[in-house]
Amino acid sequence: MTKTHPRMTVTKAVVPAAGLGTRFLPATKATPKEMLPVVDKPAIQYVVEEAAAAGLSDILMVTGRNKRALEDHFDRAYELEELLARKGDRDKLRRVQESARLANMHYVRQGDPKGLGHAVAVAEQHVAGQPFAVLLGDDLIDPRDPLLSRMIEVQQELGGSVIALMEVDPSQIHLYGCAAVKPNGFGEDVVRVTDLVEKPDTADAPSNYAVIGRYILDPAIFDVLRETKPGRGGEIQLTDALRGLAVRDASTGGPVHGVIFKGRRYDTGDRADYLRAIVRLACEREDLGPEFRSWLRDFVATEMQS
Ligand code: G1P
Repeated sequence: MTKTHPRMTVTKAVVPAAGLGTRFLPATKATPKEMLPVVDKPAIQYVVEEAAAAGLSDILMVTGRNKRALEDHFDRAYELEELLARKGDRDKLRRVQESARLANMHYVRQGDPKGLGHAVAVAEQHVAGQPFAVLLGDDLIDPRDPLLSRMIEVQQELGGSVIALMEVDPSQIHLYGCAAVKPNGFGEDVVRVTDLVEKPDTADAPSNYAVIGRYILDPAIFDVLRETKPGRGGEIQLTDALRGLAVRDASTGGPVHGVIFKGRRYDTGDRADYLRAIVRLACEREDLGPEFRSWLRDFVATEMQS
């Protein structure tokens, strides 16, 4: 019997959310960075909605100290709900209840902050031998460009693990994991990953394919993570463990495939990108967009003059 389960359905998602968010201090002094609003929803809710839309109804959040607001956000808020119900404010009531109805939420603490690979490793017991998804909260994927369901489809067809790749300007590759790839004959958007390196300098990067924060992982990743030594930044890197899987064959949990994403992605991990994400999403909102766009046009015109 092989160790891989190509046809085992993917139903579980792991969302690492233990990071300190120091780039957003002081906003993140007492509030988890995942709770920062993108227009009027916390960033993390977009991620949970994306997982739920792809059929992943069981979500494990890997949290840490000062992250209790995350659990509260995905839970009922009886007093608030009752107040809104008494006032007859059905729209706000629906918005309050939405986040508690998205998925079955579970929480585990990471303990020592030893990196993304370590955060994924603490999910081992929960995912219990099945392939599972990992969604990183800093990357928001536009729901009109479904990436996760395509990755699940590829995993179901080909087995192994599947990562999401996006072409970036070579000057930006040092911000990402980077993959060396070759064609695998399974559609234009799918490649075989032959090598991976975490945040290389431009000169050393094997390609301009950046790893973005969506993964479908074979449970063999846990064996590899146990053996993975601290890498870049002294942290256990998921990219390094995936490199280990990329060279394996199907009998031992490999290989690794890449889905090349060409859709809309918003990065909320960096302050300037976070602002861009808010502006772009606000412009597209039916309720806020028309007025906001018109204000933005005037604002930009005035800025150009000064
Ligand atoms: C993490 C991963 C990196 C990946 C990136 C995607 O880095 O380590 O390989 O490219 O997410 O957003 P981070 O941005 O958390 O430093």
